[in-house]
Amino acid sequence: TKQQTLSILKPNAVRKSLIGMINLRLEQARLNIVAMKMLHLTREQAAGFYAEHEGKPFFENLLKFMTSGPVVVQVLEGEDAITRYREVMGATDPSKALAGTIRYDFADSVTENAAHGSDSPESAAREIAYFFTPNEIFPK
Ligand code: CMP
Repeated sequence: TKQQTLSILKPNAVRKSLIGMINLRLEQARLNIVAMKMLHLTREQAAGFYAEHEGKPFFENLLKFMTSGPVVVQVLEGEDAITRYREVMGATDPSKALAGTIRYDFADSVTENAAHGSDSPESAAREIAYFFTPNEIFPK
């Protein structure tokens, strides 16, 4: 079934000029980019986005990293887009990611893991609405 998922190209990916390379991989995987913008997240925006991780040991570092430079936020659309994007990204921990995945190739650590993708239809709906209004999304 056709789905939409929220993608973030994280500050390390943007710093290393990997926006084009990652977008090429997404489009080649038939994950169509149907919304996209560049943002420098505030601490409040990052904390709200990652609210489910509040209190975890990595939370403070995550906020520091996610606000360390601009990110690219995107809505990706395609067949089983949520699962498929997670396959294309690879495991959260890049040392466990399969060769050829975005995180295997471009992550610097578990925190600086280059990309984020929603993990369920419920989180995709919440995360897309967190960054985009309906008129900013252009379904195929
Ligand atoms: P992301 O998919 O954006 O969701 C939460 C983020 O927290 C994760 O990617 C990592 O960037 C970061 N993180 C840091 N340490 C951990 C950890 N031990 N487990 C899960 N996520 C972590």
